[in-house]
Amino acid sequence: MGRKKEILYRITKVSDAKKVATEYLKQIELESVVKFGLPEIDDRYHIWRVPLLNANKERLGEVVIDAKTSFIVEKKTTAKEILEKKLLGRNKKKSTRKKSTIPKISNLNNTIGFGDCIELLQQTPKESVDLVFTSPPYYNARPEYSEYHSYEEYLMFIRKVIRESNRVLNEGRFFVMNISPVLLRRTSRNTASKRIAVPFDFHRLFIEEGFDFIDDIHWVKPEGAGWATGRGRRFSADRNPLQYKPVPVTEYLLVYRKQTDKLIDWHIRKHPDKELVQQSKIQDGYQVTNLWKIHPSYNKNHPAVFPVELAKRVIEYYSFVNDVVLDPFGGSGTTGKGASELKRRFVLFEKEEKYLDLIKKDIKKWNLQESEIVNWINTEAPELPNQKTLF
Ligand SMILES: C[S@@+](CC[C@H](N)C(=O)[O-])C[C@H]1O[C@@H](n2cnc3c(N)ncnc32)[C@H](O)[C@@H]1O
Repeated sequence: MGRKKEILYRITKVSDAKKVATEYLKQIELESVVKFGLPEIDDRYHIWRVPLLNANKERLGEVVIDAKTSFIVEKKTTAKEILEKKLLGRNKKKSTRKKSTIPKISNLNNTIGFGDCIELLQQTPKESVDLVFTSPPYYNARPEYSEYHSYEEYLMFIRKVIRESNRVLNEGRFFVMNISPVLLRRTSRNTASKRIAVPFDFHRLFIEEGFDFIDDIHWVKPEGAGWATGRGRRFSADRNPLQYKPVPVTEYLLVYRKQTDKLIDWHIRKHPDKELVQQSKIQDGYQVTNLWKIHPSYNKNHPAVFPVELAKRVIEYYSFVNDVVLDPFGGSGTTGKGASELKRRFVLFEKEEKYLDLIKKDIKKWNLQESEIVNWINTEAPELPNQKTLF
């Protein structure tokens, strides 16, 4: 009887198999949405099988690794397209399972929270918000300015905000995101500047996190507005083809709806307060197309505010009177101001004290009524005229 030949494996431990599988998922850009089951070795074929699961621990497929070489066995590994299809399907299934018969009226008070929005969102009750409108912090690729180590890390952070917002948003309600591509300036004369198409990457995150795409609205600013970016100056001087670069004067408002099997009409027909529906009707002179011409706004104390006119238009078109409007990146509080002017409640989160102080100062002018309680989280309430406060 001959001795059985000893076979040397490069992958001998579960943790090594997971490492290889993680690298593979990074390559196909699914590492943040796919989880692992327990990897098992199959020593008949000298392979490791690493099960891939979705957030509900349902099986999506597997990564198969050659134990001897540590290479992925592509023929036996579940294809990226199949994983993506199953992930998208999972979200659809999850939201249609619910069977609410009437839309809920939230019992949240106006809220202003100091701190990281993901933590604050996690403390916010499920399905307690009726609209999300926000503009996120910009991604800046220069390490000296950026909080994020990489663009991938930035996208991961935004994914978490979208996921938590989905949890707190009521069924079938809207998330409107103000966002535009980011220009990375060239670092020297010999390098090119680069644009990152942030809105298109965000789109994928929204879809994967259980939203349906509704609209892309273009916020158009007057022509002078984009010159500060420096784009188009070279072309303006030299007029060579290929050098053409338009001056950006638009930003996107990406409109998504939390997945549901209900028609929009359901929210109107079944709204528990017909009087509020009546009060929320939009008057003549509304914006008919998806080009919204609005002047930008400047605030000497905050570098990236949006105009209250923009916030008000979004709030008016995508919520009812008395609804709760959330802005997880509250900044100077523009969304809250717009919401209170339109008789909606607001929830604002902001992690920088200097911007929270702007909200504390500005809120005194929002003319809140005595009945409109403000709940302050992780911060002292300012004295407000007419106001009771909760802690
Ligand atoms: C683009 S600004 C929003 C400005 C706001 N729309 C306005 O009109 O004032 C983004 C804001 O998000 C805040 N921010 C960034 N990361 C945050 C986080 N993790 N949690 C809460 N706020 C955050 C920043 O401090 C900044 O004020």
